[in-house]
Amino acid sequence: MAPRRRVLSASVEPQQVEPQPMATVAEDPPMSTVAEDPPMSTVAEDPPLAPPKLGLVLFASAHFFFPFVYLVFIHYRIEEELRRSIAICAAMSFAGFVVCLRMIPVAARYVLKRNMFGYDINKKGTPQGNIKVPESLGIVIGIVYLVIAILFQHFNFTADSNWLVEYNAALACICFMTLLGFVDDVLDVPWRIKLVLPSFAALPLLMAYAGHTSIVIPKPLAQFVGVAFLDLGWIYKLYMGMLAVFCTNSINIHAGLNGLEAGQTVVIAAAILIHNVMEIGTSSDPEYKQAHAFSIYLMLPLLTTSLALLSYNWYPSSVFVGDTYTYFAGMAMAVVGILGHFSEALIVFFLPQVLNFLLSCPQLLKFYPCPRHRLPSFDPKTGLLTGTDDGTLVNLFLRKFGKCSEKSLCIRLLIFQALACLLCFWFKHILAGWR
Ligand code: UD1
Ligand code: MG
Repeated sequence: MAPRRRVLSASVEPQQVEPQPMATVAEDPPMSTVAEDPPMSTVAEDPPLAPPKLGLVLFASAHFFFPFVYLVFIHYRIEEELRRSIAICAAMSFAGFVVCLRMIPVAARYVLKRNMFGYDINKKGTPQGNIKVPESLGIVIGIVYLVIAILFQHFNFTADSNWLVEYNAALACICFMTLLGFVDDVLDVPWRIKLVLPSFAALPLLMAYAGHTSIVIPKPLAQFVGVAFLDLGWIYKLYMGMLAVFCTNSINIHAGLNGLEAGQTVVIAAAILIHNVMEIGTSSDPEYKQAHAFSIYLMLPLLTTSLALLSYNWYPSSVFVGDTYTYFAGMAMAVVGILGHFSEALIVFFLPQVLNFLLSCPQLLKFYPCPRHRLPSFDPKTGLLTGTDDGTLVNLFLRKFGKCSEKSLCIRLLIFQALACLLCFWFKHILAGWR
């Protein structure tokens, strides 16, 4: 059988290739033909990826790391030992950022070689819409993240640490989710199956969880309920599983614009980190502080590795993140919300995703037809996007605020995400008197 042809060279006439979404991978020859691919030496001939947009990363980092460092090392009186652990984690996370920056272009060549690519749907009808964009680069982020998180145990936990079991259970969930996300990218599984994958991935945490299963009733409500703590038992574990399913899927369906998947993760992870530091700084309960420190150790590497991915995924994307990344990032945030016991704050951080999910329900529940891609329509003449009738926040923004470019729409949605996070901090401020 003749080897599969690579169509990445600049000499290809754009019109020769009909842009199609990732589903085209399913139409490829079966896996047995993979052995007949051109040898790796040809891979080196591919045009290199566009360089990472480091200016964007610097901009995003400046807005996050200065306040974070200020809060940890200056504003709050945090124990030296905890500060040391956070500093080690930050250094390892920075190393992860550098490794991801270097590895993404390498991995991009390998995934292209295996025909894992997608066409940029919001550029259809322009030459850019005919370029094969490497898919599933979230696999690099997942692997680098896991290596950092596993190595970090050496610096922070002792063999008899209570947190070690839960920390490893959390890592098992994230690892399992990354694997299932990659399976989804390769096999393009149907939507109903996608929906349940995170409930399998959450099992390690649900089985290992030995923490409390009660919730605190806010003071004004406690007099009506009659108790200050309500033990939910197995219902609490069900809630944990549902949170994992929600976080993963809601990130995955709030997508389809260059930079949106990685961008929303960066904003939420930054908000979680600030939330954790504020909780540590204002608490005197060592157990409570540990829960939030635990979250910091898992969120710092998520933030830095996602920034590296964002630098390649930002408009115009030179790589796509894939469901590997959306599931991985959603699960990482779900497990810290669960184990750090701040799931109610997490849900406010996820407000745009909640709205997008509610808007999506009629189509997801099949009351209305649900196409494979629920994206806006793109006009190649003007370069602007117009909202369609599909129920997504992306389309709602376009319908409410008018046509705009893909980049501006992504920025607007990320600003909205940041506003949701600020709303959560404002709620915290108001509710502080109720504790
Ligand atoms: C989810 C959404 C789908 C949306 C898709 C975009 C639901 C139920 N599913 O599906 O409506 O179209 O995400 O990711 O809401 N792509 C772009 N530009 C981007 C990112 C992705 O054009 O910035 C396209 C590429 O062709 C890429 C494909 O989307 O190959 C990836 O889609 P995939 O993540 O597999 O879609 P789903 O997660 O199943
Ligand atoms: Mg997806």
